[in-house]
Amino acid sequence: MAAFKTLDDLDLKGKRVLVRADLNVPVQDGEVSDSTRIERLVPTLREIVKNDGKAVILSHFGRPKGKVDPEYSLEIVIPALVVATGHPVGFIPTDWVDVADVKAAIDEAPVGSVLVIENTRFHKGEEENDPELAKRMASLGDVFVNDAFSAAHRAHASTEGVAHLLPSAAGRAMQDELTALEKGLGKPQRPVIAIVGGSKVSTKLDLLENLVAKVDALVIGGAMANTFLHAGGLGVGRSLCEKDLAETANRIRDKAEAAGCAIILPIDATVAWHFEANAPHRTYAVDAMDPDGMMLDVGPSSVERIKGAIDEARTVVWNGPLGAFETPPFDKSTVEIAKYVAKRTHDGKVVSVAGGGDTVSALAHAGVKDDFTYVSTAGGAFLEWMEGKTLPGVAALIAKA
Ligand code: 3PG
Repeated sequence: MAAFKTLDDLDLKGKRVLVRADLNVPVQDGEVSDSTRIERLVPTLREIVKNDGKAVILSHFGRPKGKVDPEYSLEIVIPALVVATGHPVGFIPTDWVDVADVKAAIDEAPVGSVLVIENTRFHKGEEENDPELAKRMASLGDVFVNDAFSAAHRAHASTEGVAHLLPSAAGRAMQDELTALEKGLGKPQRPVIAIVGGSKVSTKLDLLENLVAKVDALVIGGAMANTFLHAGGLGVGRSLCEKDLAETANRIRDKAEAAGCAIILPIDATVAWHFEANAPHRTYAVDAMDPDGMMLDVGPSSVERIKGAIDEARTVVWNGPLGAFETPPFDKSTVEIAKYVAKRTHDGKVVSVAGGGDTVSALAHAGVKDDFTYVSTAGGAFLEWMEGKTLPGVAALIAKA
């Protein structure tokens, strides 16, 4: 990856430091229910405060469709930011049409302040990457720091547009993320194994196509694996399966073979006859599937096989659970493999990088969220990175370096 600037390259003293954060966090009953993204932002904020800058935070929250909508006000995240930073945090409302009041509030705040400006998506120019809005945003800062990898796949005014208008750099969370991802697929230690699960091949086509050309082995689990098994001529009973994608699945297998990437599909599955927690279940070999059953997790022999493949690898990249992990006992293989990767990481045998919404929940469920080399908080951005796409928010920082 080309170089990008970091906080080390910026003079922060007395500066209004515009920080693009991703405060798009889950909220339940009026409170932030998972502060991981907020916690990742703390090192950047601390550094700005310590260096006598003013941290002026830009972020979206939800999808208010370009209109002011109190339901999507960022004010809701302020208490969680105060807890995470141990620092007072000011909130500046705006509709992003006229920012004179915002500017005045920032000017009045003393150095060392942390301020959050209202949801950038309250103005339709945000998602349109409107140059006028980007200019208005840029007028609120002296330098720009992007610490929102998870929003970097959006070419929006606050992620991309503004980066071209001010001296720009990656924040510490963005820097950590890009460094970890480089170790995962950019310049990894080989062999590299990718573990990809989830329910649909159709949502991960680009990702699979990109991975087979880059990794040495690709484990396919989750209901996605059923599509591949069906394409290979096996019965999948009543399991989730995209039968119309059989040809696509076979094309991906051919591409893998040509590239020297081993595809590892389940050899057995945990099968149930209805889908609910603790439903009666049995293990079936994939070539002897009960036509009335549903494969809800990869089976124990497959788990052993996957562990064997992980033993051969020096880098593990993971996206998507291997089974229906939210419904026990169909979480078994995901938990077991997550713990195994965590142990191999702890023993210094592999570099492990995981990301994507469900994946992070699955690792948290297995109790190993903090035991991988790096766990990305990004959903769509992590997928696009795995697809090999250029992320506009990152590209803008590189262009400035
Ligand atoms: C996310 O939560 O993945 C990011 O904040 C991006 O949100 P978006 O999908 O609404 O652009």
